[in-house]
Amino acid sequence: MKLADKVAIVTGAGRNIGEDVSRLFAAEGAAVAVVDLDKARADRVAAEIVASGGKAQGFLCDVGSEEDIVRCVADVKAAFGGVDILVNNAAISDNKTMFDISTQEWNRVLAITLTAPFLFSKYAALEMIAQGRGGRIVNVSSTSGYYGRDRAIAYTAAKGGVVNLTKSLAIQLAPHKIRVNAVVPNKIGSPVGKDEFDPTRPVLNLVGRPGLPADLAKAALFLVSDDAEFIVGAALFVDGGCTTLMPGNS
Ligand SMILES: NC(=O)c1ccc[n+]([C@@H]2O[C@H](COP(=O)([O-])OP(=O)(O)OC[C@H]3O[C@@H](n4cnc5c(N)ncnc54)[C@H](O)[C@@H]3O)[C@@H](O)[C@H]2O)c1
Repeated sequence: MKLADKVAIVTGAGRNIGEDVSRLFAAEGAAVAVVDLDKARADRVAAEIVASGGKAQGFLCDVGSEEDIVRCVADVKAAFGGVDILVNNAAISDNKTMFDISTQEWNRVLAITLTAPFLFSKYAALEMIAQGRGGRIVNVSSTSGYYGRDRAIAYTAAKGGVVNLTKSLAIQLAPHKIRVNAVVPNKIGSPVGKDEFDPTRPVLNLVGRPGLPADLAKAALFLVSDDAEFIVGAALFVDGGCTTLMPGNS
């Protein structure tokens, strides 16, 4: 078991990628705080983990609210006795152009997708530092953080921010033995904000199939485990080689 006796918080864990990260971490021995804005989703995932012999609990939290984040970290500590691992997975996309998006929509996407990983890292790190046993943080970015898109503007800006946020957090938390890294998925499971997997969603990568939530979960497990002891501030692409392909060149 790679995460025996660890307490892990996974945000946006009520479905898709966060759900599989929670399941895998629990199977590796962690007590998992399944955090979501949709409590029913979080409770379903937690209940299924418990039914299969793991340790988990659902927590209601809007990661767009600093108050909620502070309360959530305290609730997890009360339930499981501390915090060792944080996966900042929750995000929303705008799917808008720069002319269609309102300032309010822009601010909400930035709050959930970029500010929340900062704030959750801050309050979880304060807890990790107080515990004195180090910690691990994984931020979920996106290939949309490396490329421009015609159908998203706030999301691409926020995901680019997550990559460099990861580096500064890694530097500032290294003295406390807290390792911070990022994963960079492309087209994994259902699209962000959607329940249903779309088999017709075009996929262009070197593996020749769409990514599965389990692909991302395995990468996150690697980064939070001792196997990645010497990996700090990295952005691990989990994209089937999609970003290796140069557009328009064969
Ligand atoms: N699915 C993909 O193809 C893909 C590709 C690249 C990157 N990503 C990234 O992976 C992560 C997970 O994506 P997904 O497709 O599994 O997302 P999803 O939309 O399927 O699930 C996200 C979960 O987060 C929850 N959530 C939304 N707003 C929240 C809030 N304010 N507070 C707490 N929880 C909230 C939702 O209720 C939902 O259960 C995101 O960071 C996303 O940007 C996904």
